[in-house]
Amino acid sequence: MLDGKRILLIIGGGVAAYKSLDLARRLMERGAAVRGVLTPAGQQFITPMSVASLTGDECYTDLFSLKDEAEMGHIRLSREADLVVIAPATADLMAKMAHGLANDLASTILLATDKQVLIAPAMNAEMWAHKATQRNIETLKRDGILMVGPGDGMLACGEVGPGRLAEVPDMVAAIEGYFAGGNRPLMGKHIVVTAGPTHEPIDPVRYIANRSSGKQGFAIAGALAALGGEVTLVSGPVSQTTPPGVARVDVETALEMDAAVKAALPADAAVCVAAVADWRIKAGSNGEKLKKSKDGIPALNLCENPDILKGLSAMKEGRPALVVGFAAETEQVIEHATAKRKRKGCDMIVANDVSHTTGIMGGDSNQVHVITETGVESWPTMSKDDVATALAKTIADALTK
Ligand code: C5P
Repeated sequence: MLDGKRILLIIGGGVAAYKSLDLARRLMERGAAVRGVLTPAGQQFITPMSVASLTGDECYTDLFSLKDEAEMGHIRLSREADLVVIAPATADLMAKMAHGLANDLASTILLATDKQVLIAPAMNAEMWAHKATQRNIETLKRDGILMVGPGDGMLACGEVGPGRLAEVPDMVAAIEGYFAGGNRPLMGKHIVVTAGPTHEPIDPVRYIANRSSGKQGFAIAGALAALGGEVTLVSGPVSQTTPPGVARVDVETALEMDAAVKAALPADAAVCVAAVADWRIKAGSNGEKLKKSKDGIPALNLCENPDILKGLSAMKEGRPALVVGFAAETEQVIEHATAKRKRKGCDMIVANDVSHTTGIMGGDSNQVHVITETGVESWPTMSKDDVATALAKTIADALTK
């Protein structure tokens, strides 16, 4: 994927600088040549020796090094790359870049380069939220600089919030995405995907569930992110790994899934792949474990869960431009799914036959029919990953036409 690509990796000063060493390795594993630049602050966290040893190239640190200037020169350094990556990008480096300062090697390279720059910011949450930083980010985005992260969570300083350096696989995905070039039609589009089953508690230890593995939904989230989409994946309990570049929200019940989807809006598209339980146990149990008793078997008192897909489709204001549902049927697949699309009010429904003999539920392959207002397209049997890729393309076409 990155064969022969030359990446200039500028490492700023932050605790997360050590992750850049791993980033360099992962990029090289994919065939890239990585050349490191370490700022003076970066050298407080990792050494030029570790960067040079890992990259197999010189690590550049000093604007006024006679040796470096004679051999390479900062202008050449800035041009002999296909992409300039800053990870971690500190608030200071971003401010310098936004204002065109050039008083050390990194900032001079950034002013002199004629190549695309991708930044992975990392800093304290308050520094990230500061108006000055936010202003600089706006300027950098307007200048066409690409950004990955920051993530949300526990920061090295002990505070919690946005400011974590993006995870290495996410940085790799962003870099690969850049080189994938024009193949990023979903850039700037936000897409919410639901996946997996829901668990509806019966009592503190038992629940109602279904056999959905989340495989297809996760593959779709990954395929949409690979096309440049900003994807929020709301997932029920599954044992799938989060695809690179996807923001995941974990939920258990249908009510939680409904709330998480609403919280993730606005979105340009919603893809409801989750096998949401139709019913939950009516509130009112005393929260204790049900006991066997002489009075016989307890009756499960059910009530209906919200229909997330139907709710999204019926939104009067702020409805996603494209709402996609799934229909798991066991007979008369196309007829039932066509009726379901109308009933739910969604724009597209992806139907499949989940009867026992097909092995689709929990399996690796799928055979789907894509149903819209204008007709039915039946796709051949493919792996769930290929269905995801094809569906992501169909969604991109529908959103960008
Ligand atoms: O009605 P049925 O469950 O067959 O519909 C399946 C489609 O509706 C799927 O896209 C599923 O994600 C969505 N759905 C939902 N909320 C529910 C039930 C189904 O979003 N409560």
